[in-house]
Amino acid sequence: MVKYEEKYRDEALQLTGKRSFDGTFTVKHRSHSNIALVKYWGKRNYQIPQNPSISFTLENSVTDTVIKYRFKKERWLSFDFYFEGTANEYFAGRIRKYLSVLQTYFPFLENLHLTISSTNSFPHSSGIASSASAMSALALCICSIEKKLFGTLRDEKKFLTKASFMARLGSGSAARSVFPGFVLWGESTAVKGSSDEIAIPLPVEINDTFSDIRDAILITSAGKKKISSSAGHGLMQNHPFAQARYLQANENIITLMSALTTGDKDMFTHIIENEALTLHSLMMSSNPGFTLLNERTWKIIDEIRNFREKTGKFVAFTLDAGPNVHLLYPGRDKTAIKEFIEQKVVGLCENERWIDDGIKP
Ligand code: DP6
Repeated sequence: MVKYEEKYRDEALQLTGKRSFDGTFTVKHRSHSNIALVKYWGKRNYQIPQNPSISFTLENSVTDTVIKYRFKKERWLSFDFYFEGTANEYFAGRIRKYLSVLQTYFPFLENLHLTISSTNSFPHSSGIASSASAMSALALCICSIEKKLFGTLRDEKKFLTKASFMARLGSGSAARSVFPGFVLWGESTAVKGSSDEIAIPLPVEINDTFSDIRDAILITSAGKKKISSSAGHGLMQNHPFAQARYLQANENIITLMSALTTGDKDMFTHIIENEALTLHSLMMSSNPGFTLLNERTWKIIDEIRNFREKTGKFVAFTLDAGPNVHLLYPGRDKTAIKEFIEQKVVGLCENERWIDDGIKP
């Protein structure tokens, strides 16, 4: 099995910043957010997940990042950061930490001045986690700088694999955002080539039932989370259900892969809804416990269950680390689902806000 950490540390020896150059150059990347179906919740060492996870990448919820870089003789990390056109101190702090970690793998960074500008397609504070798309966009840009300066990473697969590894160091879920479609991150005994260090495109034939799956993101609260994902992951360390949870997630990976191949909607629905509720049960039963769901989250879940019972249509919900509901359904039911949302659900959304998204093919 490839040991990516070692591989990229070795590669770093060739990526020193001796080459000076004149002028300012630009790299840019768009990266897409993702929604997990089997959840990553709990990590160890440095950004190593306690269990494998599967997500699909979203088409419309994206971060666009542009980096302008120029050579400087002084050898220290130096950058400016603009979010939506304005200097942002809070995000800059997180990026500083991240870039210091990346310096181990990209030693040339200390000889560059970077001007980083990022924008999100989704409204700020819409409750959509932006760390996956933001950190992966940044990782892709830094890999592009390596490619331009050293002529490395010309092979697309090598480029994306390295970007996934680097994105993971910024935010675990970001490792998955480097790839479109269904993505697996974390070692699973059922999948050759799977790894805790990088994500890979899920290597199974996806049944037509799921190939154009859509995600209506129903915003029940756009406020800041009460507890960060990182703190939540930390609470898994002494969680009484931790070992059972990791075992369950490993089994769910195998069952979900089978449902995705055979087109088993019921199995898919069972697994992903159970994963969502397990995630929040783990939060509630940790020490200290916390609750991110609100009354409207539960009402929407009820409406989805009633709609499914009444119409027999394939609709399923999932949740990430927040109170917003992701309503998943096949593309062919777009009109019926829009009607359902308008009649039963939109009144439960904060400011009647929901985001119309779907899988990025
Ligand atoms: C509930 O990737 O945000 O969305 O690695 O600390 O940045 P960090 O955590 P993060 O956690 C995501 C948790 C989740 C489930 C998932 O996306 O798999």
